[in-house]
Amino acid sequence: MDQELQNKLKKEAGIKAAQYVKDGMVVGLGTGSTVRYLVDELGRRWQEEGLRFTGVTTSRRTTAQAESYGIKIVDIDDVDHMDLTIDGADEVDKNFNGIKGGGAALLWEKIVATNSRHYIWIVDHSKQVDTIGKFPLPVEVIPFGVGHVIKQFEAKGYKPVLRLDKEGKPVLTDENDYVVDLHLERIDNPEALAADLINTVGVVEHGLFLNMVDEVIVGNEGEPLVLTN
Ligand code: 5RP
Repeated sequence: MDQELQNKLKKEAGIKAAQYVKDGMVVGLGTGSTVRYLVDELGRRWQEEGLRFTGVTTSRRTTAQAESYGIKIVDIDDVDHMDLTIDGADEVDKNFNGIKGGGAALLWEKIVATNSRHYIWIVDHSKQVDTIGKFPLPVEVIPFGVGHVIKQFEAKGYKPVLRLDKEGKPVLTDENDYVVDLHLERIDNPEALAADLINTVGVVEHGLFLNMVDEVIVGNEGEPLVLTN
């Protein structure tokens, strides 16, 4: 799909999802280019329509964008739960299993998601797949001993690659951890893989979000499609 069309579909999904946000809610705000459109629309509604809600973000980037509109952002520990969280995703299959973390925010994203009463993903239709795994699976790893974790992943055939920035330095998450991307091509048993990853010492969290999402809003040519889990 060409970039311009993809951005249009992301924007339409983001604008549609913004309609779910009501006055007084506590709203988890995800991270990524699709969420940027969501936050732009929420910022517009905040300023033009007087929409008032409390936001909890999944990255410092999203905090900065939301606060630039004047949206009230609080610490996750200042709220009891999120009424609703809206986030992007890198892949999603028919069983509502997905991969997240392309933007290195998977840890905060998973913490916010697990403390949310309702959880929505916004994607363009290119993110819908039969089998997840073509998108490299991000794993957040503590810097100390990362080389040993990578060796363990290599021995298991997970094809790990330490994520680097443009200057060749390891990308740091908001928790100052590293991201190791697993080039698996396909993941036939995501539950088993998730269990193996989370039991690896040094791994903080992984980007498998299995059957966690309640709704997926898919940007399509025409109206966005709403899939309910
Ligand atoms: C960040 C994420 C993003 O939600 C995911 O990478 C999708 O990003 P985009 O909307 O830019 O395609 O998980 O960690």
